[in-house]
Amino acid sequence: MVGGNRLVGTVRVPGAKNSILKLMAASLLAEGSTTLTEVPDILDVTIMAELLRRLGCEVNQDVSGGTVRIDVPDKPGHQADYDLVRKMRASICVLGPLVARVGEADVALPGGDAIGSRGLDMHVNGLTRLGAEVTSEHGFLIAKAAQLHGAKIWLDFPSVGATENLLMAAVLAKGTTVIDNAAREPEIVDICQMLVAMGATIEGIGSSTLEIEGVEALQPVTHRTVPDRIVAGTWAVAAVMTQGDITIDQGDPGHLEIALDKLVGCGAMIEELPVGFRVSMDRRPKAVDIVTLPYPGFPTDLQPQFIALNAISEGAAMVTENLFEARFRFVHELGRLGADVHTDGHHALVRGRSRLSGAPVEATDVRAGAGLVLAGLVADGTTTVHEVHHIDRGYSGFVESLQALSADITRVDD
Ligand code: UD1
Repeated sequence: MVGGNRLVGTVRVPGAKNSILKLMAASLLAEGSTTLTEVPDILDVTIMAELLRRLGCEVNQDVSGGTVRIDVPDKPGHQADYDLVRKMRASICVLGPLVARVGEADVALPGGDAIGSRGLDMHVNGLTRLGAEVTSEHGFLIAKAAQLHGAKIWLDFPSVGATENLLMAAVLAKGTTVIDNAAREPEIVDICQMLVAMGATIEGIGSSTLEIEGVEALQPVTHRTVPDRIVAGTWAVAAVMTQGDITIDQGDPGHLEIALDKLVGCGAMIEELPVGFRVSMDRRPKAVDIVTLPYPGFPTDLQPQFIALNAISEGAAMVTENLFEARFRFVHELGRLGADVHTDGHHALVRGRSRLSGAPVEATDVRAGAGLVLAGLVADGTTTVHEVHHIDRGYSGFVESLQALSADITRVDD
């Protein structure tokens, strides 16, 4: 790509990557045909579809229509193999639904994004409290339970993945489960709403205490995926960095309150629309401090994009990462474009430069990849981002959308 163009126009935000994968896993809880809409055309959906097929489901993905239909058999399988789990850590989300529905789940221990060590202790402890026997053998996490029972669970930290797994297990457990210090992300609300439509009883949706009354069986439903707030936030940052004007159709500003407030602090104008919002900018942005925290705090998945933004802003800013320590790895790549970023533990001090200079760089994970593309769009000369398969995991048609907004960018197979 060659930097320098203002991005102007409209983009449409698809359903959230971090929701659709869990909704697909939740389909395992009911025999029959589940249909999901607003499905993003991303690699991770294809991986999850393959995982479900191996469990005996029939999965039909209509890419152009943005739907997935999943036909779940009476008795699904229970094993998720390493060749798929290593490609996508989110595969771990079949653990809860399988143990609840089939009585056993054998899930290979995950790899996935290289963004720091991510434990599974809260998943394991929670399932144990629900009555499962959890062991680890030959690289598999094995959870077994003839019948799960309700329990009181306190999470040490509001983990998204653990909350989802425990929710999906608790909806078919016998009795009442309370999950305290639960995650409250919009994607958690989305899965709760799908589970309720399937026949589950869940109180406290959107709060940090979820109370679930187990039921004997659930029915398949048709469900619309919540819009991707991280994709929407990435477009918002793109508008600010390029001093452009982007209408983000379907984006929900209510899911991005702190991030959008930070952009206003940079000098951006934000207008709420009936379905979406518009971000415009007419000057060099001002640097803004950010601190990542679980929702409703500032999302870690927008941290690299905001480092890229601060790298070209007026002044200096401190970025504090509280979720994934290795997320700063991409800073070295940003340095190749001339960015001035110093990291110390989980803090990064970013001093804004008036210009970046294009160079070859490498995406280290999906969000770092997005941050590097944004930086390349404002750098002098040509920037080449390698390992773009990481970006494909979370952004559908990224290059085509950027072209439609007037970016000078092409995709080259590397
Ligand atoms: C999800 C998102 C990811 C996002 C993250 C935080 C998906 C597919 N991914 O990841 O994009 O960045 O939420 O918003 O939805 N932890 C433990 N023990 C556990 C579970 C988690 O120590 O049992 C720690 C992790 O190491 C990490 C932190 O908790 O430091 C956050 O993890 P979690 O909220 O579970 O994130 P994910 O569900 O993996």
